[in-house]
Amino acid sequence: MPKTAKIVLIVVGTLAALAIGGGAFIGFGVYNIGADDHHTPLTLALIEQLRDRSIAARSSSIDAHYIEDPVRIAAGAKHYATLCVGCHMAPGVTKSEMRIGMYPRPPNLAQGELLQAQRAFWIIKHGIKMSAMPSWSKTLDDAAIWDVVAFVRKLPDMTPETYQQLSEHTP
Ligand code: HEC
Repeated sequence: MPKTAKIVLIVVGTLAALAIGGGAFIGFGVYNIGADDHHTPLTLALIEQLRDRSIAARSSSIDAHYIEDPVRIAAGAKHYATLCVGCHMAPGVTKSEMRIGMYPRPPNLAQGELLQAQRAFWIIKHGIKMSAMPSWSKTLDDAAIWDVVAFVRKLPDMTPETYQQLSEHTP
């Protein structure tokens, strides 16, 4: 058999074996989709890369309408207290029955690093597939999402008293 024909046969054979293996892996339900069964370190690393590169590619060209204005921060706090705190915690809010069983676990935004504004806007607007993070574009318009961004950027330095004041105060 000529050399190229041999190579083609090996490549086709390998692809067919991979397709059959992949089909069997899915078809026989080998993969445990349960949220209490965590990914292997390799799968997790791949998913995190995929997520971060995807978000970076889509958020870097966003025009930041981020304004550090107390009125917008207060408006963002109201949305946050209604829509987000159960998953993302807040200063003085440290317990959530819903959050503990989630995988991936929603980050505690009161304890994290300062969020990059465009990235936060994109994530809040579009959500993240195969995680509990919803797309809020159906609930909040862009201006309201920028209010939330202005607010979440304040969270890491916020005291429980300020959070309570902001989230309760009605304008
Ligand atoms: C039902 C749970 C849930 C709710 C409600 C929720 N989120 Fe999330 N959020 C998540 C999860 C889970 C992730 C992590 C997803 C991942 O890493 O794949 C996340 C990620 C994020 C991130 C990215 C943080 C980072 O450092 O990468 C931001 C910002 C965020 N959410 C903001 C919000 C805001 C603002 C709201 C409310 C408008 C909200 N989320 C409501 C579950 C939730």
